[in-house]
Amino acid sequence: MKKIGIIGSGVMGHGIGQLYAQHGSFVTLYDVNDAALKQARTMIEDSLSAMVEKEIITSEEMVRTFDFLSFTTDFETAVKDAEMVVEVVPEVLDLKLKVYRQIEEIVSRETIITSNTSAIPLTELVQGAKHPERFIITHYFAPAQIIPLVEIIQINGTTDPMVLKKTQDYLTFCGKSPILLKKEVPGFIANRMQMALMREAFWLYENGIASAQDIDTVIKDSLGFRYVFLGPLEGQDIAGIGTTYNVGLKLFPVLDDTKTPHKFLKDMIDNNTVGLRTRKGFYEYTDESASAKIRTRNDNFLEVYKLRKQQQGK
Ligand SMILES: NC(=O)c1ccc[n+]([C@@H]2O[C@H](COP(=O)([O-])OP(=O)(O)OC[C@H]3O[C@@H](n4cnc5c(N)ncnc54)[C@H](O)[C@@H]3O)[C@@H](O)[C@H]2O)c1
Repeated sequence: MKKIGIIGSGVMGHGIGQLYAQHGSFVTLYDVNDAALKQARTMIEDSLSAMVEKEIITSEEMVRTFDFLSFTTDFETAVKDAEMVVEVVPEVLDLKLKVYRQIEEIVSRETIITSNTSAIPLTELVQGAKHPERFIITHYFAPAQIIPLVEIIQINGTTDPMVLKKTQDYLTFCGKSPILLKKEVPGFIANRMQMALMREAFWLYENGIASAQDIDTVIKDSLGFRYVFLGPLEGQDIAGIGTTYNVGLKLFPVLDDTKTPHKFLKDMIDNNTVGLRTRKGFYEYTDESASAKIRTRNDNFLEVYKLRKQQQGK
Protein backbone atom coordinates (compact mmCIF):
# COMPACT_ATOMS: atom_id res chain seq x y z
CA MET A 1 0.00 0.00 0.00
CA LYS A 2 1.51 3.34 -1.00
CA LYS A 3 -0.62 5.68 1.09
CA ILE A 4 -2.66 4.91 4.20
CA GLY A 5 -4.81 7.27 6.26
CA ILE A 6 -5.35 6.52 9.94
CA ILE A 7 -8.42 8.16 11.49
CA GLY A 8 -7.90 8.38 15.26
CA SER A 9 -4.38 8.43 16.71
CA GLY A 10 -4.96 7.11 20.21
CA VAL A 11 -3.84 3.90 21.91
CA MET A 12 -4.44 1.75 18.83
CA GLY A 13 -4.19 4.23 15.94
CA HIS A 14 -0.62 5.34 16.66
CA GLY A 15 0.60 1.71 16.86
CA ILE A 16 -1.09 0.70 13.61
CA GLY A 17 0.32 3.81 11.90
CA GLN A 18 3.80 3.03 13.22
CA LEU A 19 3.62 -0.55 11.94
CA TYR A 20 2.55 0.49 8.43
CA ALA A 21 5.19 3.23 8.22
CA GLN A 22 7.86 0.75 9.35
CA HIS A 23 6.84 -1.33 6.33
CA GLY A 24 7.24 1.48 3.82
CA SER A 25 3.73 2.89 3.40
CA PHE A 26 3.21 6.65 3.58
CA VAL A 27 1.00 6.97 6.63
CA THR A 28 -0.97 10.07 7.59
CA LEU A 29 -2.24 10.03 11.15
CA TYR A 30 -5.33 12.15 11.67
CA ASP A 31 -6.97 13.20 14.91
CA VAL A 32 -9.48 15.82 15.97
CA ASN A 33 -6.99 17.59 18.18
CA ASP A 34 -3.32 18.49 18.08
CA ALA A 35 -2.64 17.19 21.59
CA ALA A 36 -3.61 13.65 20.54
CA LEU A 37 -1.26 13.86 17.54
CA LYS A 38 1.63 15.12 19.70
CA GLN A 39 1.02 12.28 22.11
CA ALA A 40 0.90 9.80 19.19
CA ARG A 41 4.23 11.07 17.92
CA THR A 42 5.82 10.70 21.38
CA MET A 43 4.46 7.17 21.77
CA ILE A 44 5.83 6.18 18.34
CA GLU A 45 9.23 7.70 19.20
CA ASP A 46 9.32 5.78 22.50
CA SER A 47 8.29 2.53 20.85
CA LEU A 48 10.84 2.82 18.03
CA SER A 49 13.59 3.79 20.50
CA ALA A 50 12.84 0.68 22.55
CA MET A 51 13.07 -1.41 19.36
CA VAL A 52 16.45 0.16 18.56
CA GLU A 53 17.67 -0.55 22.10
CA LYS A 54 16.69 -4.20 21.73
CA GLU A 55 18.35 -4.33 18.28
CA ILE A 56 15.06 -5.21 16.60
CA ILE A 57 15.52 -2.27 14.20
CA THR A 58 18.49 0.01 13.50
CA SER A 59 18.55 3.72 14.28
CA GLU A 60 18.55 4.34 10.50
CA GLU A 61 15.30 2.37 10.24
CA MET A 62 13.86 4.48 13.04
CA VAL A 63 14.73 7.69 11.17
CA ARG A 64 13.36 6.23 7.91
CA THR A 65 10.07 5.33 9.61
CA PHE A 66 9.52 9.02 10.39
CA ASP A 67 10.08 9.81 6.68
CA PHE A 68 6.94 7.75 6.05
CA LEU A 69 4.84 9.38 8.78
CA SER A 70 2.88 12.60 8.83
CA PHE A 71 0.41 14.01 11.34
CA THR A 72 -2.57 16.22 10.54
CA THR A 73 -5.81 17.64 11.85
CA ASP A 74 -7.02 18.11 8.27
CA PHE A 75 -9.30 15.20 7.38
CA GLU A 76 -9.03 15.56 3.61
CA THR A 77 -5.21 15.49 3.71
CA ALA A 78 -5.36 12.21 5.64
CA VAL A 79 -7.69 10.29 3.36
CA LYS A 80 -7.21 11.82 -0.11
CA ASP A 81 -5.51 9.36 -2.48
CA ALA A 82 -5.22 6.74 0.27
CA GLU A 83 -5.33 3.12 -0.85
CA MET A 84 -6.51 2.17 2.61
CA VAL A 85 -8.18 4.19 5.36
CA VAL A 86 -8.08 2.73 8.86
CA GLU A 87 -10.79 3.85 11.28
CA VAL A 88 -9.58 3.78 14.88
CA VAL A 89 -11.95 6.20 16.63
CA PRO A 90 -13.70 5.40 19.97
CA GLU A 91 -16.11 2.45 20.14
CA VAL A 92 -19.26 4.49 19.43
CA LEU A 93 -21.32 3.32 16.45
CA ASP A 94 -22.72 6.72 15.46
CA LEU A 95 -19.25 8.26 15.55
CA LYS A 96 -17.84 5.50 13.35
CA LEU A 97 -20.76 5.83 10.88
CA LYS A 98 -20.18 9.58 10.67
CA VAL A 99 -16.48 9.02 9.97
CA TYR A 100 -17.30 6.50 7.17
CA ARG A 101 -19.64 9.02 5.52
CA GLN A 102 -16.84 11.61 5.59
CA ILE A 103 -14.31 9.13 4.18
CA GLU A 104 -16.57 7.93 1.37
CA GLU A 105 -17.17 11.51 0.24
CA ILE A 106 -13.46 11.94 -0.48
CA VAL A 107 -11.79 8.64 -1.39
CA SER A 108 -11.77 6.85 -4.73
CA ARG A 109 -13.94 3.82 -5.51
CA GLU A 110 -10.96 1.46 -4.95
CA THR A 111 -10.05 2.62 -1.43
CA ILE A 112 -10.32 -0.06 1.24
CA ILE A 113 -11.88 1.04 4.54
CA THR A 114 -10.97 -0.97 7.63
CA SER A 115 -12.21 -0.70 11.20
CA ASN A 116 -10.42 -1.72 14.39
CA THR A 117 -13.72 -2.10 16.27
CA SER A 118 -13.58 -4.44 19.27
CA ALA A 119 -17.18 -5.55 19.18
CA ILE A 120 -19.42 -3.84 16.61
CA PRO A 121 -20.50 -6.28 13.88
CA LEU A 122 -19.44 -5.32 10.34
CA THR A 123 -23.08 -5.62 9.23
CA GLU A 124 -23.84 -2.66 11.54
CA LEU A 125 -20.80 -0.67 10.45
CA VAL A 126 -21.75 -0.80 6.75
CA GLN A 127 -25.32 0.45 7.24
CA GLY A 128 -25.64 3.48 5.00
CA ALA A 129 -22.30 2.86 3.26
CA LYS A 130 -22.11 3.84 -0.42
CA HIS A 131 -19.87 0.85 -1.11
CA PRO A 132 -20.24 -1.78 1.63
CA GLU A 133 -18.09 -4.20 -0.39
CA ARG A 134 -14.92 -2.24 0.44
CA PHE A 135 -15.34 -2.40 4.23
CA ILE A 136 -13.53 -4.94 6.38
CA ILE A 137 -12.68 -5.29 10.08
CA THR A 138 -9.02 -5.68 11.02
CA HIS A 139 -9.00 -6.14 14.78
CA TYR A 140 -5.61 -5.56 16.41
CA PHE A 141 -4.31 -6.10 19.93
CA ALA A 142 -2.43 -3.50 21.95
CA PRO A 143 0.39 -2.73 21.42
CA ALA A 144 -0.62 -3.04 17.76
CA GLN A 145 2.92 -2.59 16.45
CA ILE A 146 4.08 -5.64 18.45
CA ILE A 147 1.30 -8.20 19.03
CA PRO A 148 1.15 -10.27 15.81
CA LEU A 149 -2.54 -11.23 15.68
CA VAL A 150 -5.05 -9.37 13.53
CA GLU A 151 -8.58 -10.80 13.34
CA ILE A 152 -10.25 -10.18 10.00
CA ILE A 153 -14.01 -10.09 9.68
CA GLN A 154 -15.75 -9.77 6.33
CA ILE A 155 -19.37 -10.23 5.25
CA ASN A 156 -19.83 -13.34 3.13
CA GLY A 157 -21.43 -12.36 -0.16
CA THR A 158 -20.91 -8.61 0.40
CA THR A 159 -17.18 -8.01 0.96
CA ASP A 160 -15.25 -7.84 -2.32
CA PRO A 161 -12.87 -10.87 -2.41
CA MET A 162 -10.12 -8.54 -3.70
CA VAL A 163 -10.52 -6.32 -0.63
CA LEU A 164 -10.07 -9.36 1.57
CA LYS A 165 -7.06 -10.64 -0.38
CA LYS A 166 -5.30 -7.26 -0.52
CA THR A 167 -5.84 -6.79 3.22
CA GLN A 168 -4.58 -10.27 4.09
CA ASP A 169 -1.55 -9.92 1.80
CA TYR A 170 -0.67 -6.52 3.19
CA LEU A 171 -0.93 -7.60 6.84
CA THR A 172 1.22 -10.65 6.11
CA PHE A 173 3.76 -8.37 4.41
CA CYS A 174 3.78 -6.30 7.62
CA GLY A 175 4.72 -9.43 9.60
CA LYS A 176 1.28 -9.87 11.15
CA SER A 177 -0.69 -13.10 11.63
CA PRO A 178 -4.04 -12.29 10.01
CA ILE A 179 -6.75 -14.83 10.75
CA LEU A 180 -10.15 -14.86 9.04
CA LEU A 181 -13.40 -15.54 10.85
CA LYS A 182 -15.64 -17.73 8.69
CA LYS A 183 -18.72 -16.22 10.34
CA GLU A 184 -19.47 -13.14 12.42
CA VAL A 185 -19.60 -13.87 16.17
CA PRO A 186 -19.80 -11.39 19.10
CA GLY A 187 -16.34 -10.62 20.53
CA PHE A 188 -14.62 -12.32 17.59
CA ILE A 189 -12.24 -15.09 18.73
CA ALA A 190 -9.48 -13.75 20.95
CA ASN A 191 -11.75 -11.70 23.21
CA ARG A 192 -14.19 -14.61 23.57
CA MET A 193 -11.37 -16.85 24.75
CA GLN A 194 -9.87 -14.11 26.90
CA MET A 195 -13.20 -13.39 28.61
CA ALA A 196 -13.82 -17.11 29.23
CA LEU A 197 -10.48 -17.23 31.05
CA MET A 198 -11.15 -13.95 32.88
CA ARG A 199 -14.52 -15.22 34.09
CA GLU A 200 -12.88 -18.22 35.69
CA ALA A 201 -10.02 -16.11 37.13
CA PHE A 202 -12.58 -13.75 38.70
CA TRP A 203 -14.50 -16.71 40.15
CA LEU A 204 -11.34 -18.20 41.67
CA TYR A 205 -10.45 -14.83 43.19
CA GLU A 206 -13.97 -14.06 44.43
CA ASN A 207 -14.21 -17.45 46.11
CA GLY A 208 -10.84 -17.08 47.84
CA ILE A 209 -9.31 -20.12 46.14
CA ALA A 210 -5.95 -18.30 45.79
CA SER A 211 -4.48 -14.81 46.00
CA ALA A 212 -4.44 -12.50 42.96
CA GLN A 213 -0.69 -13.01 42.77
CA ASP A 214 -0.97 -16.79 42.77
CA ILE A 215 -3.75 -16.79 40.16
CA ASP A 216 -1.54 -14.61 37.95
CA THR A 217 1.46 -16.88 38.54
CA VAL A 218 -0.58 -19.91 37.45
CA ILE A 219 -1.20 -18.33 34.06
CA LYS A 220 2.23 -16.74 33.52
CA ASP A 221 4.12 -19.87 34.54
CA SER A 222 1.95 -22.51 32.88
CA LEU A 223 -0.60 -21.64 30.19
CA GLY A 224 1.03 -18.34 29.17
CA PHE A 225 4.44 -19.98 28.90
CA ARG A 226 2.99 -22.71 26.71
CA TYR A 227 0.62 -20.60 24.60
CA VAL A 228 3.33 -18.39 23.08
CA PHE A 229 4.28 -21.30 20.85
CA LEU A 230 1.50 -23.86 21.17
CA GLY A 231 -2.20 -23.15 20.61
CA PRO A 232 -4.84 -24.88 22.72
CA LEU A 233 -5.99 -27.21 19.92
CA GLU A 234 -2.55 -28.37 18.74
CA GLY A 235 -1.71 -28.78 22.44
CA GLN A 236 -4.61 -31.26 22.63
CA ASP A 237 -3.12 -33.30 19.81
CA ILE A 238 0.05 -33.65 21.86
CA ALA A 239 -1.74 -34.37 25.15
CA GLY A 240 -4.27 -36.73 23.56
CA ILE A 241 -7.94 -35.83 23.11
CA GLY A 242 -9.11 -38.66 25.40
CA THR A 243 -7.54 -37.14 28.48
CA THR A 244 -9.13 -33.75 27.94
CA TYR A 245 -12.49 -35.32 27.18
CA ASN A 246 -12.43 -37.17 30.49
CA VAL A 247 -11.27 -34.08 32.40
CA GLY A 248 -14.04 -32.10 30.66
CA LEU A 249 -16.69 -34.58 31.85
CA LYS A 250 -15.70 -33.79 35.44
CA LEU A 251 -14.85 -30.09 35.13
CA PHE A 252 -17.25 -28.53 32.63
CA PRO A 253 -20.24 -28.87 35.00
CA VAL A 254 -18.39 -26.99 37.78
CA LEU A 255 -16.74 -24.21 35.77
CA ASP A 256 -18.07 -20.71 36.34
CA ASP A 257 -20.88 -19.87 33.93
CA THR A 258 -22.13 -16.57 35.34
CA LYS A 259 -23.94 -14.44 32.77
CA THR A 260 -23.03 -11.06 34.26
CA PRO A 261 -19.63 -9.72 35.36
CA HIS A 262 -18.86 -10.55 39.00
CA LYS A 263 -20.27 -8.21 41.65
CA PHE A 264 -16.87 -7.49 43.24
CA LEU A 265 -15.77 -5.89 39.95
CA LYS A 266 -18.60 -3.36 40.23
CA ASP A 267 -17.57 -2.73 43.86
CA MET A 268 -14.01 -2.05 42.71
CA ILE A 269 -15.31 0.44 40.15
CA ASP A 270 -17.53 2.15 42.77
CA ASN A 271 -14.53 2.34 45.15
CA ASN A 272 -12.38 3.85 42.41
CA THR A 273 -9.88 1.01 42.63
CA VAL A 274 -9.70 0.25 38.91
CA GLY A 275 -5.99 -0.51 38.56
CA LEU A 276 -2.88 1.44 37.60
CA ARG A 277 -4.87 4.58 36.85
CA THR A 278 -6.07 4.88 40.47
CA ARG A 279 -2.93 3.22 41.88
CA LYS A 280 -5.02 0.38 43.31
CA GLY A 281 -6.74 -2.57 41.68
CA PHE A 282 -5.96 -6.20 42.47
CA TYR A 283 -2.55 -4.82 43.60
CA GLU A 284 -1.38 -1.49 45.00
CA TYR A 285 0.99 0.87 43.17
CA THR A 286 3.04 3.95 43.74
CA ASP A 287 3.63 6.44 40.90
CA GLU A 288 7.00 4.76 40.30
CA SER A 289 5.78 1.18 40.39
CA ALA A 290 2.87 2.05 38.08
CA SER A 291 5.24 3.39 35.38
CA ALA A 292 7.64 0.50 35.99
CA LYS A 293 4.78 -1.97 35.41
CA ILE A 294 4.15 -0.56 31.92
CA ARG A 295 7.88 -0.36 31.10
CA THR A 296 8.47 -3.97 32.16
CA ARG A 297 5.42 -5.15 30.21
CA ASN A 298 6.61 -3.44 27.03
CA ASP A 299 10.12 -4.71 27.56
CA ASN A 300 8.97 -8.30 28.01
CA PHE A 301 6.68 -8.10 24.97
CA LEU A 302 9.65 -6.96 22.87
CA GLU A 303 11.73 -9.91 24.12
CA VAL A 304 9.03 -12.36 22.99
CA TYR A 305 8.58 -10.44 19.73
CA LYS A 306 12.31 -10.72 19.08
CA LEU A 307 12.34 -14.42 19.87
CA ARG A 308 9.45 -15.11 17.49
CA LYS A 309 11.13 -13.08 14.72
CA GLN A 310 14.38 -15.03 15.22
CA GLN A 311 12.47 -18.30 15.00
CA GLN A 312 10.74 -17.16 11.81
CA GLY A 313 14.18 -16.20 10.41
CA LYS A 314 13.25 -12.53 9.97
N1 LIG B 1 -7.40 -0.06 23.42
C1 LIG B 1 -7.37 -1.33 23.05
O1 LIG B 1 -6.68 -2.17 23.65
C2 LIG B 1 -8.14 -1.78 21.83
C3 LIG B 1 -7.86 -3.04 21.30
C4 LIG B 1 -8.54 -3.45 20.13
C5 LIG B 1 -9.47 -2.61 19.55
N2 LIG B 1 -9.75 -1.39 20.09
C6 LIG B 1 -10.70 -0.52 19.38
O2 LIG B 1 -9.99 0.48 18.67
C7 LIG B 1 -10.79 1.68 18.58
C8 LIG B 1 -9.99 2.83 19.16
O3 LIG B 1 -9.65 2.53 20.50
P1 LIG B 1 -8.44 3.24 21.25
O4 LIG B 1 -8.20 2.44 22.47
O5 LIG B 1 -7.34 3.53 20.30
O6 LIG B 1 -9.16 4.62 21.66
P2 LIG B 1 -8.45 6.00 22.10
O7 LIG B 1 -9.48 6.75 22.86
O8 LIG B 1 -7.13 5.77 22.70
O9 LIG B 1 -8.20 6.72 20.69
C9 LIG B 1 -9.25 7.20 19.88
C10 LIG B 1 -8.76 8.49 19.21
O10 LIG B 1 -9.77 8.89 18.31
C11 LIG B 1 -9.83 10.31 18.38
N3 LIG B 1 -11.13 10.75 17.86
C12 LIG B 1 -12.29 10.94 18.49
N4 LIG B 1 -13.23 11.34 17.61
C13 LIG B 1 -12.65 11.37 16.40
C14 LIG B 1 -13.08 11.68 15.09
N5 LIG B 1 -14.33 12.07 14.85
N6 LIG B 1 -12.20 11.62 14.09
C15 LIG B 1 -10.92 11.26 14.33
N7 LIG B 1 -10.44 10.94 15.53
C16 LIG B 1 -11.30 10.99 16.56
C17 LIG B 1 -9.58 10.67 19.82
O11 LIG B 1 -9.11 12.01 19.95
C18 LIG B 1 -8.52 9.63 20.20
O12 LIG B 1 -7.21 10.14 20.01
C19 LIG B 1 -12.08 1.37 19.31
O13 LIG B 1 -13.03 0.94 18.38
C20 LIG B 1 -11.69 0.24 20.26
O14 LIG B 1 -12.78 -0.55 20.62
C21 LIG B 1 -9.08 -0.94 21.20
